[in-house]
Amino acid sequence: MSNSADDDAGPSGMRKGLTSYGDAGFSLFLRKAFIKGAGYTDAALARPVIAIADTGSDYNPCHGNAPQLIEAVKRGVMLAGGLPMAFPTISVHESFAAPTSMFLRNLMAMDTEEMIRAQPMDAVVLIGGCDKTVPAQLMGAASANIPAIQLITGSMLTGSHRGERVGACTDCRRYWGQFRAGEIDADEVADVNHQLVASVGTCSVMGTASTMACIAEALGMTVPGGASPPAVTADRIRIAELTGAQAVQMARDRLTIDKILTPAAFENAMRVLLAIGGSTNGIVHLAAIAGRMGLAIDLSALDRMGRETPVLLDLKPSGAHYMEDFHAAGGMATLLRELKPLLRLEAMTVTGRTLGEEIDRAGPGFPQTVVRPITDPIYPQGGIAVLSGNLAPGGAIIKQSAADPALMEHEGRAVVFQNLEDLAHRIDRDDLDVGADDVLVLKNIGPKGAPGMPEAGYIPIPRKLARAGVKDIMRISDGRMSGTAFGTIVLHVTPESAIGGPLAWVQDGDRIRLSVKNREITLRVSDEVLAQRAIDHPVVEPTAERGYRKLYLQSVLQADQGVDFDFLQAPHPLGKVPRC
Ligand code: FES
Repeated sequence: MSNSADDDAGPSGMRKGLTSYGDAGFSLFLRKAFIKGAGYTDAALARPVIAIADTGSDYNPCHGNAPQLIEAVKRGVMLAGGLPMAFPTISVHESFAAPTSMFLRNLMAMDTEEMIRAQPMDAVVLIGGCDKTVPAQLMGAASANIPAIQLITGSMLTGSHRGERVGACTDCRRYWGQFRAGEIDADEVADVNHQLVASVGTCSVMGTASTMACIAEALGMTVPGGASPPAVTADRIRIAELTGAQAVQMARDRLTIDKILTPAAFENAMRVLLAIGGSTNGIVHLAAIAGRMGLAIDLSALDRMGRETPVLLDLKPSGAHYMEDFHAAGGMATLLRELKPLLRLEAMTVTGRTLGEEIDRAGPGFPQTVVRPITDPIYPQGGIAVLSGNLAPGGAIIKQSAADPALMEHEGRAVVFQNLEDLAHRIDRDDLDVGADDVLVLKNIGPKGAPGMPEAGYIPIPRKLARAGVKDIMRISDGRMSGTAFGTIVLHVTPESAIGGPLAWVQDGDRIRLSVKNREITLRVSDEVLAQRAIDHPVVEPTAERGYRKLYLQSVLQADQGVDFDFLQAPHPLGKVPRC
């Protein structure tokens, strides 16, 4: 088999990564024999090989358009002179992953990395969309360090319920909250269940999937405009074809991922995360991706960036619109144009051009109401504030743009739930001693605690308060929450309670104070009392006897390090980002 693409950088195409038989000639001979069993010619096999990570799965309706996307990617690859080769990896959907999708994200990242390493390819197209899939793919590709390009599956369409526009998942939570409060009946909640997810594709608001789509484009990892087209549109299919063609060019140019995932790219991603009112999960995933490049996210610097980065995107849950409206408003080009003075324009992208060049190529904007001008934001600061204090020595976060302004400076009495089972057992009991000014505390939902750091930080408002008309209450946990959720909710308390973080020692009746203005979360209990509680009730860290759960519990890092496994991070730290 000839392969003119081989050069000083080593073998390419089908010659890459030969299986070890101790005879390279035989390895290639055998590989050719097998692949020819599928009907390929020598001419086809001499082309640059562009692999396509197929995450289609009957268990993942957010990736329900994967077959159409693969067809379009293959067309783009063929038009540009490459040979497309699709291969399956794990696919993870939020509602079909127990105990939680986050538990499996690192497994998907390992699968992606190792299959990229194992199989011959000159570039890889990563098809992801649902919350954990894009970060998993970027983590794996970052470690494998070949030319890689992200293709987003795209958002679902919105539905209509009794004249009201609805979409997952902010409206799922809103209607369920109304049902719990007795405001709508079982028939209506069953009716709206048909309408909340109107097509295949990812959640239609600025949840984690949309956040990671925007972050992927801000990182320079998608073709321009790759974040916003809905899943079932012609625009999405065209993006897929363009992605396939671009992957061939990246293979020819050897535009490896380390040239794109630079400190400047992460700074741009953090800026965009703040400006879109993005999911708090975005921080965890960015920390994990950065960790694969040897970089650590500086949470203090992120908070400083937040004070000078307003929320511009008017999407639920912080605002009013849906992803398809963002696309109609010009998508990321409109946002990036507005943010341009705050961006690192020299950052490289998958096109081989810089982010600044791509913003200029996108041309002028047009009148629209979804992306606000920087002079008239929907929220004056970034959506996420970073907190610290004796309750969270390693930091905690709050999505201030989706919180009740009346609770941003608040002190209340702790009402403590020891774990998810305790919460489920007591939250709706009429004899629960709780009032609207109290602080709900949920322990043991951190990276090791649940395990998997589930999105259970959105603690439901106790039924008796919901029925009394309470719409928000201050909540604290070491878990995460869905990007589609809203409320005055402190998350990612680090270190987590399951390994003996201060959250473990909070008791019913303790006073807890939140000051978003001062970026403080304080447990008003003395160090001496906390030390005595630690002696009286020592923490036993969770363990497992075998399997992936054992590996997970032995290796998982805390939220500030992205909940990645310690052995998957880059071996040589290269410092913090942003470097501003
Ligand atoms: Fe897949 Fe929301 S469940 S993106």
